[in-house]
Amino acid sequence: MAELIDGKKISQDLKDEVKAQVSELKAKGVEVTLAVILVGNDPASTVYVGNKKKACEYTGIISKSYELPEETSEDELLKLIDELNDDDSVNGILVQLPLPKQIDEDKVIRRISPDKDVDGFHPESVGRLSIGAKGFVSCTPAGVIELLKRSNTPMDGANAVVVGRSNIVGKPMSVLLLRENATVTICHSHTKNLKEVCKNADILVVAIGQPKFIDGSYIKEGATVIDVGIHRIDGTKKLCGDVDFESAEKIAGKITPVPGGVGPMTIAELMNNCYLSAVMQNS
Ligand code: GUN
Repeated sequence: MAELIDGKKISQDLKDEVKAQVSELKAKGVEVTLAVILVGNDPASTVYVGNKKKACEYTGIISKSYELPEETSEDELLKLIDELNDDDSVNGILVQLPLPKQIDEDKVIRRISPDKDVDGFHPESVGRLSIGAKGFVSCTPAGVIELLKRSNTPMDGANAVVVGRSNIVGKPMSVLLLRENATVTICHSHTKNLKEVCKNADILVVAIGQPKFIDGSYIKEGATVIDVGIHRIDGTKKLCGDVDFESAEKIAGKITPVPGGVGPMTIAELMNNCYLSAVMQNS
């Protein structure tokens, strides 16, 4: 049976480290502040934003909350972002996605100053990551790297396979694994022989957004499996990932559960990015 990689525990450790660092900054007279913008009342987004605000409270980061109505225009949102960009007391700006259809998400992401882009979604942040320059790293893939490091999974020289090529997870994930000297393969819906490619992975990161898509037959004996997916199982309150946990845990060496794996790491990394932003802005 695979060893569980406990994202709840690891994210708690990371939040405690951020809390201590934020407290040290405070002692030097520097506060850390995150502006959180939610447009509309999508239930999932409301829960995510609530969790982000709770994590701010825990780590000692000030959260400034902007809850705007569903019918907010693009211009109104861009104007608020401009004000927050110019406000020296704000270190990070987070606009919860998705946005209502009248607002162009890409335009909004580009409007956030790269110096305050704690989500790491701005093209400038993505470009910096790809050339190995300093900048904000998207929170979920950063969290996956931390899970691998803190579970003592060797990345240097490992065959890492990333299933999924989204801008938020798959692409930055592959760049981060490359930065750790893994040999990286990115798979997607057009990949031929997906199972054979996955079976060659020492590290398999799955982020395709389809429930239980990858089962034990895709996994090499002893591999480390990271499941980024999260889905509600139809008609129940239970959650599952993109990986069929039951069959996968029999083959894998280490595996993340859903819930309690990657999910909690995303918010812990967001807190870390807010702290780093305040350090950069005050140095
Ligand atoms: N919506 C779902 N995940 C995220 C995230 O990580 N950041 C933002 N801003 N919106 C999201």
